[in-house]
Amino acid sequence: MKKIQLSTSITVFESIDELPTEIQKLMVRAIAIRKTAYAPYSNFHVGTAFLLENGETVTGNNQENAAYPSGMCAERVAVWNASSQFPDVKILKIAITASSENNPVTEPVAPCGACRQTLSEYELKQEDPIEIYFMGQSGNIIKTDALHDLLPLAFDKSFL
Ligand code: THU
Repeated sequence: MKKIQLSTSITVFESIDELPTEIQKLMVRAIAIRKTAYAPYSNFHVGTAFLLENGETVTGNNQENAAYPSGMCAERVAVWNASSQFPDVKILKIAITASSENNPVTEPVAPCGACRQTLSEYELKQEDPIEIYFMGQSGNIIKTDALHDLLPLAFDKSFL
């Protein structure tokens, strides 16, 4: 028996002003689309913007449903939008932001497990890492250099 330590790293930015200009613009797009999220049940709004290798930006936000499991997270709305419109174009960078009408979100909000698994599929497919920046409605921004950093030991096609 042996115990193996897995490690991951994050970068923390104290404000949007500290981000590279390209990411500031991406985060502004994520904030804008967050405001049109359809989230009447949770009042928790998530917006995301994806920068693609061809220079296009694809956005998404969460879409809820009275039959709760029929709703969808912002990240999966956006990644499927990107993959359907631009199937062979790599995703370079993702900006994510969340806000709540109930409690202000002042900490970075990382993608949920199902969104990590979904995004992981596309990172493996394109064989290039996807940078992810995530934040609340204020406060720090966290960056991971790759989806892999958010989902070590991911399930992938090699098991099939
Ligand atoms: N949500 C996202 O859009 N992304 C996540 O990664 C976590 C949760 C949404 C789903 C639901 O509409 C609301 O936030 C509350 O869970």
